Amino acid sequence: MVQFENWLLRGLLGFVCLLPVCSSAEQDLCGPLTTVREKLNATQRRRFMKMYFPINYTIQVHYEEVFKLRNISRLLNTSTEHEPVLVKDLQDLWLSVTLQGIKRVLRVLPDRHPTRRKYLQDLENLFRHFEGVYHFNQKEQRELPESIQNIMDRITDQNYHGWKSVTPKSILDNSYRTMHCLFKECFRKDNYDYCEVPKKKTT
Ligand SMILES: *[C@@H]1O[C@H](CO)[C@@H](O)[C@H](O)[C@H]1NC(C)=O
Ligand SMILES: *[C@@H]1O[C@H](CO)[C@@H](O)[C@H](O)[C@H]1NC(C)=O
Ligand SMILES: *[C@@H]1O[C@H](CO)[C@@H](O)[C@H](O)[C@H]1NC(C)=O
Ligand SMILES: *[C@@H]1O[C@H](CO)[C@@H](O)[C@H](O)[C@H]1NC(C)=O
Repeated sequence: MVQFENWLLRGLLGFVCLLPVCSSAEQDLCGPLTTVREKLNATQRRRFMKMYFPINYTIQVHYEEVFKLRNISRLLNTSTEHEPVLVKDLQDLWLSVTLQGIKRVLRVLPDRHPTRRKYLQDLENLFRHFEGVYHFNQKEQRELPESIQNIMDRITDQNYHGWKSVTPKSILDNSYRTMHCLFKECFRKDNYDYCEVPKKKTT
């Protein structure tokens, strides 16, 4: 009996001691993100987001759902000492915008459309998995700076007016580019600056 209590006590102590270690261990973010990136590669974006749609097909999105490299520098520029805008805030925004974009495209696709069945559903699941790890790694909820919070609010605003037409492919193209800029540490390669805004050219 004593032995059992000892064992129990040690077990409990061990558990208690281990807890902070357990709960502070970060999960690997780059693995899930690399999987997302493979799914987002140029071949698949072109095939599933362009070729499987009528020529010049567009869908309606809120202005705030267009999130490009240019937006990143502009938003970082709204940072103040009092209310700093961190890369983390922009990562939050990126995730919301991308998931919203995928949802918008799914909403217009018939049940049996190949883009839905062979691509977007999988992609959404990969993003959800990434989102789980991403939120797990956030120790505490940080309040978003006002400039970012306002954008988040407008993305989900039910009474929104002023829609913008975009191609389905552009949603993922933008997500792909901004992902490289906002999660640089996962895509270290040749010291390439993924945040550099490309010179205007038609793709
Ligand atoms: C993109 O991914 C598909 C499927 O995994 C693969 O077949 C294709 O070669 C990839 N394309 C590029 C450009 O990496
Ligand atoms: C698609 O858009 C381009 C550029 O706006 C235009 O030149 C072309 O005629 C359009 N094609 C069709 C089939 O509407
Ligand atoms: C990005 O910039 C465009 C054009 O200025 C703007 O309409 C859009 O709301 C911005 N998106 C975000 C997420 O700030
Ligand atoms: C950032 O803000 C400053 C002043 O507020 C302005 O001069 C500069 O052009 C801005 N840069 C960008 C990239 O918007």
